[in-house]
Amino acid sequence: MIEVCMGGKCKKSGALEVKEKFEKKVSIEGAVVGCKCMGKCRDGPNARLVNLSNKEDDLVRPLTNPLCLGVGLEDVKSIVSNFLGEKDANLLAA
Ligand code: FES
Repeated sequence: MIEVCMGGKCKKSGALEVKEKFEKKVSIEGAVVGCKCMGKCRDGPNARLVNLSNKEDDLVRPLTNPLCLGVGLEDVKSIVSNFLGEKDANLLAA
């Protein structure tokens, strides 16, 4: 699941447009959701990749919920590729 901050500062920085672009790229119902302020307002718009792995996996490897700060419309494709497990050289180079 991808959470996009819908806090006031992130909204002002374009979080709604970022969320819409995520929703277009990830055409899975409920995979992209808005969330409350992440506490990194100065860097917004911000998003977080939330790992929803099942309990068995949780015992093997810790959950990581990477935060993506200052997400621009041009970053959405790379983030989605990463989220879906595809290799993306652009994201690694960023
Ligand atoms: S408003 Fe988005 S991190 Fe605070």
